[in-house]
Amino acid sequence: MDKLLIHGGRRLQGEVRISGAKNAALPILCAGLLVPGTLELSNVPQLHDVGTTLKLLDRMGVKSTRDAAAGTVTLDGSSVTSTEAAYDLVKTMRASILVLGPLVARFGEARVSLPGGCAIGQRPVDQHIKGLQALGARIDIEHGYVVARASRLKGTRIVTDMVTVTGTENLMMAATLAEGETVIENAAREPEVVDLARALIALGARIHGAGTDRIVIEGVDALHGGAYRVMSDRIEAGTFLCAVAAAGGDLRLTHCEPDTLDATLDKLREAGLRIECGPDWIRGTMDGRPKSVNVRTAPYPGFATDMQAQMMAVNCVADGTGVITETIFENRFMHVQEMRRLGAEIDTEGTTAVVRGKRGLSGAIVMATDLRASAGLVIAGLVADGDTLVDRVYHLDRGYDRMERKLAAVGASIERVRTVDDA
Ligand code: EPU
Repeated sequence: MDKLLIHGGRRLQGEVRISGAKNAALPILCAGLLVPGTLELSNVPQLHDVGTTLKLLDRMGVKSTRDAAAGTVTLDGSSVTSTEAAYDLVKTMRASILVLGPLVARFGEARVSLPGGCAIGQRPVDQHIKGLQALGARIDIEHGYVVARASRLKGTRIVTDMVTVTGTENLMMAATLAEGETVIENAAREPEVVDLARALIALGARIHGAGTDRIVIEGVDALHGGAYRVMSDRIEAGTFLCAVAAAGGDLRLTHCEPDTLDATLDKLREAGLRIECGPDWIRGTMDGRPKSVNVRTAPYPGFATDMQAQMMAVNCVADGTGVITETIFENRFMHVQEMRRLGAEIDTEGTTAVVRGKRGLSGAIVMATDLRASAGLVIAGLVADGDTLVDRVYHLDRGYDRMERKLAAVGASIERVRTVDDA
């Protein structure tokens, strides 16, 4: 099992190319199921989750060709042979639920394993199911699977109980092929929802209002093939900015979309990071120690829950005390115990963490528990005195495109290691 060995204390200096967004690429790949032709994608990040999605699609008969280094994937959804997503893949990647809407919309049936528990919260999919039922699908839970059947979905008005990103995406995809108009109220406004809508529009879908909380979809009889470039990963960009805010230095991020990062940029400015932005680049410069900030996660355009662990790492070494409140997931503080092992002073009460910043952390062996927790631990390791070994790096590989290479290229002392006991 791979681990990352970090020798802390180096400043970061140089340029980092930001990759395509994981949380846009995964739904857009699943949209390939809606298309009786080819979908050519570019700016697809090199991530484990992309590989899992292609495997899932392949089992259904969607053929893909991928040039991972070039970031291109071509999908051919013209001869789908199965409408099942099996437990063995779904349990490793919850985003697999995104095949449910496309399958029932195009083929009138889907059998998708229910995702089980998750490290960061219960994460039910009741809103996906409720929305599909409103569109006319009959849904049964059979042997751990969601089984959906419909002759043709019928457009309707759906009001989700809470803001859900993949829930909005699943229903938006399903509605593209429904008869008549669908309105999704209380829709997620995340940039990744907008990116999926743009991709669907390029394939012939009629969608208005993506990026607002009311999305209107006029169903069409069929989508057609097309090409699309996946948006840049705002969470990867934010993660590198937190790294330079904590470790100090001067980083220029290229191929990014600063407009999608407002809440993160505001908090980092408050923490003392000097930020300059161009149309597709962000420069972050930090001399000295960051200042503590209070953060409350919220649906977009609020502060992203996917940035919470990384911002906590900044607060761990900041001047002052920062309060972090997680409002999206009920158990997304798994990194706290591990950050404490590095000497951080953090108290938690429910979904609030009080972080008393310290001048330094001290390197230790720590265990990654989920994707963004891993990123937070890597940032803490960049600042800690001595060696930090981050175990269970597979979490990081699911969602960051060669993070350690990008960090090493800007001066971090970080390497991937395999320990003898794993050989
Ligand atoms: N929720 C329900 N019922 C539902 C759907 C959601 O109760 O049917 C709850 C969830 O349990 C949670 C809240 O609603 O408390 C919001 O969850 P949401 O559905 O928005 O999360 P998601 O769509 O499962 C996506 C991202 C996550 C990101 C969240 C929040 C993808 C593939 N995943 O998950 O990304 O944290 O939105 O922004 O887009 C990550 O990249 O590390 C990651 C976890």
